[in-house]
Amino acid sequence: MTYDSDSKHDRRSFLRQASVFALGLPLLELSSFGLLGCNQASSSSRAALGESGMVPWKTTIVAESEPGEPLIISGTIYAPDGRTPLEGINLLVYQTDKTGVYSTTGGDNRNTRIHGAMRTTADGRYEFRTIRPGSYPGSRNPQHIHAYVSGPEYPEYWIDEYHFNDDPFITDEMRRKFAAQGAFSSILTLKRESDGVWRGVRDIKVEKCSRNCTGR
Ligand SMILES: [Fe+2]
Repeated sequence: MTYDSDSKHDRRSFLRQASVFALGLPLLELSSFGLLGCNQASSSSRAALGESGMVPWKTTIVAESEPGEPLIISGTIYAPDGRTPLEGINLLVYQTDKTGVYSTTGGDNRNTRIHGAMRTTADGRYEFRTIRPGSYPGSRNPQHIHAYVSGPEYPEYWIDEYHFNDDPFITDEMRRKFAAQGAFSSILTLKRESDGVWRGVRDIKVEKCSRNCTGR
């Protein structure tokens, strides 16, 4: 892997984490990562996330050969006060490929290929590398990445999807809605840098699940 720009988490540490995670991938049973609608990951995947003791804070969820525009999303997960970074918070993300399809086998929203799990560092950080997802074929549905959050004191729930400010399918209504999220907006402003990689930041404020709960 060629990506690691963080001085506090050196390349050796990242590679060690990545290799451990790769070994753990069979536990995630990629082929069984069924999606029961956009916002429901399969129980096996959620269980694997919770049972694994070696989930990296930083990961790559696509192969180098994955078609699409490369994208790195990073951020910090905070306590409900919005100021205290939280360690050990799980973030599970999944998305379509560049054509807006969740799976290369069947084209429905089950068995999505592109997903990954992270667990925050002591300073609350997470990061994943992927490609920009596509809108659903033939739709005006904005590009998006689904996400679940959970932690030792935070039962799992799903958060608003990651969206992108430059997406023409983002409506004014969505912009108004998410403007209220302030610094925790789920609409990211992406910048494409000289290496051709889009980058964006999304900080997340966890909450005790009261809506969007998965019951886990
Ligand atoms: Fe979706």
